[in-house]
Amino acid sequence: MIVLGIETSCDETAAAVVTSAREIRANRVLSQFAEHAPYGGVVPEIAARSHLEHIDRLVAKTTEESGVAFSALDGIAVTGGPGLIGGVIVGVMTAKTLAQVLGKPLINVNHLESHALSARLVADVPFPYLLLLVTGGHCQLVSVEDVGRYLVLGTTMDDAIGEAFDKTAKMLGLHYPGGPAIEEIAVQGNAARFKFPRPLLGRPGCDFSFSGLKTAVAQAVDQLPPGALSRNDIADVAASFQAAVTDTVLDRTRAGLETFRAAHPKAQHLVVAGGVAANAALRATLDDLAGQLGFTLTAPPPVLCTDNGAMVAWAGIERLGRGLTDPLDFAPRPRWPLGEVRSSAR
Ligand code: KG4
Ligand code: ZN
Repeated sequence: MIVLGIETSCDETAAAVVTSAREIRANRVLSQFAEHAPYGGVVPEIAARSHLEHIDRLVAKTTEESGVAFSALDGIAVTGGPGLIGGVIVGVMTAKTLAQVLGKPLINVNHLESHALSARLVADVPFPYLLLLVTGGHCQLVSVEDVGRYLVLGTTMDDAIGEAFDKTAKMLGLHYPGGPAIEEIAVQGNAARFKFPRPLLGRPGCDFSFSGLKTAVAQAVDQLPPGALSRNDIADVAASFQAAVTDTVLDRTRAGLETFRAAHPKAQHLVVAGGVAANAALRATLDDLAGQLGFTLTAPPPVLCTDNGAMVAWAGIERLGRGLTDPLDFAPRPRWPLGEVRSSAR
């Protein structure tokens, strides 16, 4: 099976061609970082226009590079939400047009589902597994029972984890996107200098909270000498922030693994996915935790953690293989919780 995947839900215009033998024949991502950087965050209108400008050529180049003719595709998969609706519409209209013209099945993929299944594109990860989903808009622990069957065990009560990275970076005057910028400078900092809170640590359940941490970072930055922050101060705040996030995620994931194991005593796989999963400190911490509790951690390579078309194509393959295709008139959705994803054929 060979599927074309299209992703336009945030600030990356992406397309990929993937086979059911897990071969990524082509995977192109066009980041809009430079267009949004002057504003310190994603501007939805700019994102939608940029997707519109680039999507046709990107899809053409990706399929050409893959060596797979349009006529040889088995399906067209596209992110149908959740995301910035202007961008989602651009991808969905492109996919619908291709599916209609080529007479191919169309697969409407939930963006979170594509992150959730991305680990299965790179490793043998059987269902069920525990997923730590860490993106710019979400932070969740999910029991992935099967394709389309997602049980959310814990979620953030306020900010998403990527948002916390991005806001902290902004306070420190670092460039957008904040996650990679924080990670880069944190290596040079002293993580013990600022005692930032670890919200919900040790509490029952496995929900997350990041807004208190964000406030603590803002207060610490306010108390630094006025004027431009020194490189040392920036590195120390970044390192202290990243340590607090890592400790929090570790504690919450431990609780999640315990809950998950009670329901699935034989399951052995922990997966981390989403843009923040590109963070090496977080990956190392989770790897240790998994080892301690007898789980195996699967973390897709960083290029498959941040938004990309390959994960959409792969989710398309998983759904198409189960007969889960969609009609040409499905509606793109700005909000689409994982729990509302369809798991059986109509
Ligand atoms: O999954 P993703 O590409 O888009 C969404 O679905 O939201 O995640 C984007 C988020 C951004 O907040 C970005 O700052 C964060 O992932 N991110 C990172 C790193 N790379 C990307 N956060 C921490 N460390 C990184 N290396
Ligand atoms: Zn994403």
